[in-house]
Amino acid sequence: MIFRQLFDATSSTYTYLLASRRGGEALIIDPVLERVDRYLRLIEELDLNLVKAVDTHLHADHITGLGALRDHTKCITVMGEQSGVDVVSMRVADGDRLDIEGLSLGVIYTPGHTDDSYCFTLADRVFTGDTLLIRGTGRTDFQNGSARAQYESIFNRLLRLPDETLVYPAHDYKGDSVSTIAEERAHNPRLQVKSVAEYEALMAGLKLANPKMMDVAVPANMRQGLHQAEVARRGWAIDAATAIGLLGQADVAVIDLRERAERERHGVLPGALHVPYSSLAETIVPGGLLHELATTTGKQLVFFCAFGERSAMSVQAAQDAGLRSASHIEGGMDAWKKAGGLLA
Ligand SMILES: [Fe+2]
Repeated sequence: MIFRQLFDATSSTYTYLLASRRGGEALIIDPVLERVDRYLRLIEELDLNLVKAVDTHLHADHITGLGALRDHTKCITVMGEQSGVDVVSMRVADGDRLDIEGLSLGVIYTPGHTDDSYCFTLADRVFTGDTLLIRGTGRTDFQNGSARAQYESIFNRLLRLPDETLVYPAHDYKGDSVSTIAEERAHNPRLQVKSVAEYEALMAGLKLANPKMMDVAVPANMRQGLHQAEVARRGWAIDAATAIGLLGQADVAVIDLRERAERERHGVLPGALHVPYSSLAETIVPGGLLHELATTTGKQLVFFCAFGERSAMSVQAAQDAGLRSASHIEGGMDAWKKAGGLLA
């Protein structure tokens, strides 16, 4: 496995780059906007293909690199379903898996620091975001934080992981880089409490100043959605209500770009073809499934995904490949359901 812990000294943020092999797919956790050039260079040096950029929660102390990485690499952006961010490509919930080629991360919903905080497990380690820090815990006094929820997340979820599990947090201000669950249970001063009430009192007594970047970072991090105006201006966007009327027409092929787990959890459109976003590139070149479908049958290609990001990027890619009939359902499955569209 390729595993890199990268540090942003300005915000003391740790960013993690993961891949199963050189030349394979990669995933990045908690990227910082100012460090995006560094990540891109490293990704290139290691011959990786970035396919997912994930934030553990909506950050208040730095601007996320999610949007910039998506714009550079066409990767999928991922956050939890509770996040107040305007648009990400994929939203995850407790119990989901976050998959790339050769690696599968477990998804644990751990509210407390914020109400959209998640931790991600991978074999011998856990990425704890700002839920559990090394000899500390994330503050719970803003962004719908809750000391009570954090106590539950830490004691009933994270501390139940095997003792030897490596703990990789999103921040460290003292120079530590990794810990273990057993070490934190024994030596983290915030965890030496006897009850949830005691933890709430401890957290209420911290009286922390707001992060310096907060007034800039939070609004910026809420707006990470892809600028889809250009796709719409070119006439490649179909609103959900219009798309409902297209479903089932003989000259239209509706293409679902989501992953299997998303289809199982959120439902599928009747008659839609399944072409996961990760395999799109090979299908739109001559000889590929969608290329042949569009050129031999003359069918109009209508892409959709969860929220319209993957499909907007796919329309652009298909148009670039010469498939002039390609368009997408604006707002994806989310908009489809709100418009009263049928599910299979
Ligand atoms: Fe945070």
